[in-house]
Amino acid sequence: MDTQLDTTETEENPLLEGLRLRRMPEPCILAIFGATGDLTRRKIFPALYALAVRKLLPAHFAILGLARTEQSTDEFVAHMEEGVREFGRDDFDPSVWEKLASRTRYLGADFGEESGKERLAKCLTEMDEEFETRGNRLYYLAVPPDAMPVLVQSLGPRRTTSGWVRLIVEKPFGRDLASARELNQLLQKDFTEDEIFRIDHYLGKETVQNMLALRFANGIFEPIWNRQFIDHVQITVAESIGIGSRSGYYEQAGAIRDIFQNHLLQLVALTAMEPPTDFTAESVRNEKVKVLKALVTPGPKAVARGQYGPGFIEGEPVPGYRQEQGVAPDSYTETYVAAKLYVDNWRWADTPFYVRTGKRMPRRETTIAIQFKRAPHPPFEDLTELRPNVLFVHIQPNEGVALGIGAKVPGEGMRVRTVHMEFLYGGAFRVELPEAYERLILDTMLGDPTLFTRADEIEEQWAIVDAIVAMWAREKPIFPNYAAGTWGPPAATEFVEWHR
Ligand code: BG6
Repeated sequence: MDTQLDTTETEENPLLEGLRLRRMPEPCILAIFGATGDLTRRKIFPALYALAVRKLLPAHFAILGLARTEQSTDEFVAHMEEGVREFGRDDFDPSVWEKLASRTRYLGADFGEESGKERLAKCLTEMDEEFETRGNRLYYLAVPPDAMPVLVQSLGPRRTTSGWVRLIVEKPFGRDLASARELNQLLQKDFTEDEIFRIDHYLGKETVQNMLALRFANGIFEPIWNRQFIDHVQITVAESIGIGSRSGYYEQAGAIRDIFQNHLLQLVALTAMEPPTDFTAESVRNEKVKVLKALVTPGPKAVARGQYGPGFIEGEPVPGYRQEQGVAPDSYTETYVAAKLYVDNWRWADTPFYVRTGKRMPRRETTIAIQFKRAPHPPFEDLTELRPNVLFVHIQPNEGVALGIGAKVPGEGMRVRTVHMEFLYGGAFRVELPEAYERLILDTMLGDPTLFTRADEIEEQWAIVDAIVAMWAREKPIFPNYAAGTWGPPAATEFVEWHR
C-alpha cells in the first residue's frame, strides 16, 4: 500500500479556499506528549485529518502518540479514529484516514525516566528512517503544567537530531507569573524563542485574525479607532456549557486562569494594539505586548466574579457548579469574571474596556463590540429608537461583522431607528471556517510563530491575573451568585449596559 500522504494540489478543490499553503511544510514527525488526553482526540487528530483531506500535510510526515499508559498503536489509532469521526468537520473518508493511520505510532512510557527517554529516542530514529522525515521534530506538549518541566528538561539536552526541533506548548502555561517565568526560563535554556510555540487557540480563529484585517486593511476605521470617537469597548466570551468532566483542572483554574488570562486578554490586545509595521511575528507581538504593559490593574470595584448555581439552559435543568462531579461542595472557584480595564496610553486613555467571560451563560457567544460616541447634535426629534453606533465583531457563532447605524423609518415624519449593516463569513466566502487547531498546527510545521504567544506576552498576562487573584484572596465571595442560564452576577451588570 502507498502510505505517502497525497499532497497534489487541485486548483478546483473548493476545500482549499479556507487554508491555502504559502509553501509546503518540510517533512517531520509530530510527537504528541499527553496523547491519551481529551485534546488529542477532540482537537489535534481531527485537525490533522482535516489537513490531510485538504492535502496540506507534508508528503513525508508521521505522528507519534506518547503517554504513560501502555497500549498498542492499533488501540491508539482506533481511539483517534473515533475522535475524528465524532469531532471532525469533514465527512469521514476511510482512504484519507488509512494513510494518516498508517503513519501513526504509539509509545507508552515514563519519559522522565532514563529507560523512557531511550525508548523515545530509538522510536524516533526508526520512524525517521521509515518515513523519511529527516530528523525534523515537532514536540507537542499537551500535558498539565506540572508535567511540563520534566519533559522540557529531557528533550532539551537531547537535541541530537540533525533536523530542526520545535516545541508546541499547550495552555495552561503555568498557573501564575512565577511559574510561567520558571517555565519560560527552562524552555529558553535549550530552545530559542522561534522554536517555542505557546498555544492560545483563539489566535488560530479566522475571525480573531480578521480583527487585524478589519483594522489595518481598511482606511476608514483607523482614524476613528481611538478615545476621541470610541465611547467604550465590550468583549464577551460567553459559553453555555458547564465544566463537563474537567473538574480536576477547572477547580484549580477558574474562569480567570482558564479564559481571562489568555483568550480575553488576547482579544483586548488585538483590539487596542497599534498598527504593526509588517505582519511578522516580531512586529505583531511587539505591539500586543505594549498593550498588555499599558493595562492598569483594576481595583476591587472594577472586577466582579461569580459562580453559577442550578438553573436552566435552553429549558433544560442543569446543576450548579458545586453540584458538578468532582467539585468541592463548598468550592470558591469562579466560573464567571468581568472587569473594567483601562489601556493607559495616548490612544485609549479614559476609554473603558469592559470584558467578561462565564460558563453556563444563556448562549455561546464571543463578540467584540466597539461602541462609538453619539452624534453630537442630531437635529431630529424622535430619537428614542436610536442607539449609539456599535461595531460588532462576531467571533463566534454567526461569524462576521455588523455595524449598527441610524436609519429613517419609512413613512411620515423623521423617526430614526437603529439598523445593522452586516457581513457574514458564511455568505461572503461560502466555505466552512477552518478549526483554529488546523491553522496553528500548520503554522508550527511552517515555523511561523506569529499566531503564538511570546514569553514576555504571557508574563504580562499573568502579571495582571496575579494582581486580581491577590485582591480576591482578601475576601471570600458569596457563591453561588448567578443562576445557570443567566448573564452573570448582579455586580457585573452595574459596570455597563452589556449588549445582548
Ligand atoms: C479553552 C478553555 O481554552 O477554551 C475551555 O479551557 C473553553 O474551558 C474553550 O471551553 C473555549 O474555546 P472555544 O473555541 O469553544 O471558544
